[in-house]
Amino acid sequence: MFKRISALVLAGLTALSVTACGGGDGTTSAGTGGGGDDTITMGFAQVGAESGWRTANTKSVQESAKSAGITLKFSDAQQKQENQIKAIRSYIQQKVDVIAFSPVVESGWDPVLNEAKNAKIPVILTDRAVDSKDTSLYKTFLGSDFVEEGKKAGQWLVEEYKDSQDTVNIVELQGTTGSAPANDRKAGFQEVIGADPKFKIIASQTGDFTRAKGKEVMEAFLKSNPDIDVLYAHNDDMGLGAIEAIEGAGKVPGKDIKIITVDAVKDGMQALADGKINFIVECSPLLGPQLMDLAKKVVKGEEVPARVVTEETTFTQEQAKQVLSSRQY
Ligand code: AHR
Repeated sequence: MFKRISALVLAGLTALSVTACGGGDGTTSAGTGGGGDDTITMGFAQVGAESGWRTANTKSVQESAKSAGITLKFSDAQQKQENQIKAIRSYIQQKVDVIAFSPVVESGWDPVLNEAKNAKIPVILTDRAVDSKDTSLYKTFLGSDFVEEGKKAGQWLVEEYKDSQDTVNIVELQGTTGSAPANDRKAGFQEVIGADPKFKIIASQTGDFTRAKGKEVMEAFLKSNPDIDVLYAHNDDMGLGAIEAIEGAGKVPGKDIKIITVDAVKDGMQALADGKINFIVECSPLLGPQLMDLAKKVVKGEEVPARVVTEETTFTQEQAKQVLSSRQY
């Protein structure tokens, strides 16, 4: 029998922007049992709204909860770990049936995850991993293989320059410092290009996964490095911001500076089709349906796989032109 919480208790428990969704009025959505005792309540602690990817991910989670009849309590941590920890503590106090979250950074989660475990509330990691040694602190991890994404980016670059002996000067826009996608996309890329000394990363800095920061950091890169051949951006948004900086410096993105990004959101795919980006590694944000299935299973006490890896592909400029009109996000 799952728990139901009164609106009064909910209102008093948190100063954060933790809201229920699905009813359109910030209250609750109907559950599988038409609001009866078998309704599952999920507390979802989202990273923020830093990118097109994140917006699509939030929509997927909210829409899938509604279709699955799961009542969703949703919070936006504005890319701050302390906000996510507060939201998770609030969900524990509210005695939700299951907690899901996308950890903004990899480390520092053991205390709050132990609190959830002691309260017997199962936790699902979605999108990003934690570096905790104790894997009993969460039931499963659903999301992409970010190391593989970095490798795919590196493999395209190696192929692109296979006939050249010249040095290839690369600048890198990293995602949020300490986050799993920033750590892993860097490592995967480095592993592949590191085999050939002609590839040189001449500057690497965080752009925090945002368009504004991507532009700002790329402007600085351009000022201090006159000979940039390639930009590797850990997401489309930073790549799109960097394109503005490159054009502002009088250079042609996609030609004077080749650009590789990760995500394949609509704006990124448009820039790829337009020839401003050269290659995109897909990272799918549409995790909602699988997340709701896993949530139902863990709440029932059923076994779930420890790791569920998202299927994804890559896109060249030609492929982007073909699929652009059918992209969902
Ligand atoms: O964790 C997934 C990453 O987070 C996406 O690639 C990026 O766009 C987002 O901000």
